[in-house]
Amino acid sequence: MKRLGVNIDHVATLRNARGEYHPDPFQAAKFVKKSGANSVTIHLREDRRHIKDLDARKICSIKDIQVNLEISTRDQIVRNALKIKPNFICIVPENRKEVTTEGGLNLLKNKNKIKKIIKLFKNRKIRTSLFINPSEKDVKISKDVGADCIEIHTGKFANLVKSKKNIKSELLRINRCSKLGFKLGLEVHAGHGLDYKSTKILSKINEIEEFNIGHFIIGESVFNGFDKVIKNFKKILRK
Ligand code: PXP
Repeated sequence: MKRLGVNIDHVATLRNARGEYHPDPFQAAKFVKKSGANSVTIHLREDRRHIKDLDARKICSIKDIQVNLEISTRDQIVRNALKIKPNFICIVPENRKEVTTEGGLNLLKNKNKIKKIIKLFKNRKIRTSLFINPSEKDVKISKDVGADCIEIHTGKFANLVKSKKNIKSELLRINRCSKLGFKLGLEVHAGHGLDYKSTKILSKINEIEEFNIGHFIIGESVFNGFDKVIKNFKKILRK
């Protein structure tokens, strides 16, 4: 059974659209757990466009919920994350102008910095993950810098599935990286842009242990309800 992490950033996006309190990401986090997902993912962006510091602190204080906090490599964000004490962190690239996380980390450029950040969190027994493109070179660097997990960016693959284009070579890249990651002792995760169809295809890759899915779940919940959508994903991941 693969694990499902539900990214609730866009519950905050919806709340922030009105500048008020509803819908509350803290309530959403509790709901995610009740619906049977394994963890909650939140991204504390440098521009705080969705999740705010107080949301992150409140959500991480819920005792029986595993929280995966996505952060950039900025010193201030790293300091905040150390204070917030999530269960897991996932280091992601961040670019102020992007609509969403557009690609994986540039590991070659940021190797030393990332290595130091990983050490800080590992010393506090916080699981560390790196959001990477499906590149075997990046899988190897992830191992070198001491990460516990890799999360493979599935955005390109998901878009190919949505536009009914040929997925063969991108699927092969994800498959090869998953197998290499597993062989090197890294836990393999996948995420970005996933919907039912793309998740179903990737769920056949044995080495992927965790899926982190956000935008589609929140959007689809408008039609089918949060609980039902989470349960549908759990069903897909059970097979
Ligand atoms: N995983 C990571 C590392 C991400 O940055 C994101 C987007 O914030 C997701 C998963 C979820 O992507 P989506 O919202 O497209 O499902």
